[in-house]
Amino acid sequence: MKLSYLWKGLPGHPIHPPLTDATIGTYTAATVMALASVVGIAEHGAAHGWWLALVIGLISTALTATTGFADWLTIEWGSPLWWTATWHMSSMLTATVFFLIATLAGHDGYTRGAVGAGPLILTLVGFGFLTLGGWLGGAVVYVHGMRVLNLVGEPPGRAVTPAPHAEKERAEG
Ligand code: HEM
Repeated sequence: MKLSYLWKGLPGHPIHPPLTDATIGTYTAATVMALASVVGIAEHGAAHGWWLALVIGLISTALTATTGFADWLTIEWGSPLWWTATWHMSSMLTATVFFLIATLAGHDGYTRGAVGAGPLILTLVGFGFLTLGGWLGGAVVYVHGMRVLNLVGEPPGRAVTPAPHAEKERAEG
């Protein structure tokens, strides 16, 4: 057992990917609720939900970005994988800045129960960078194969056990 398993997860069971699901899901809900409010579907309730989802997304981002950063530090500097992961990081941090400004600028809309034009645009731009970052994160995993063990013949019981599959962990630079 390594201490780094606490923030990186186990070989075969990394922590960053499941956290990304929570973060992307929360920001997606925020974006949908912003649009719903603007077109008049549950206008006040959706505006409240939009702003609260942004706040929860920002909290979730702190954990998600920290675990991603821990993995990023292990990549060989300047390698092709490093470039893809660095573009991913840049896009996600840019999305976070837009969501943060939308949250700060949108508090007034939260109390009024209406999403303003500025915070709506900030939310939509943030969602655009989130989508781009998700695509790049997918390339890190599914093209470069980072943190993928590919143990095709692993017995199911062993595959799902929360224990390290250290014997064949892929070199990550
Ligand atoms: C809002 C913040 C972030 C989100 C939503 C996010 C999302 C994602 C997604 C969707 C993947 C692909 C996972 C999969 O489909 O299995 C991924 C992988 C990855 N991300 Fe992020 N990411 C975020 C922040 C960061 C940051 C700040 C870094 C680096 C400093 C980073 C580094 C990585 C790395 C190295 C991978 C490869 C897989 C792994 O290490 O677990 N991410 N990310």
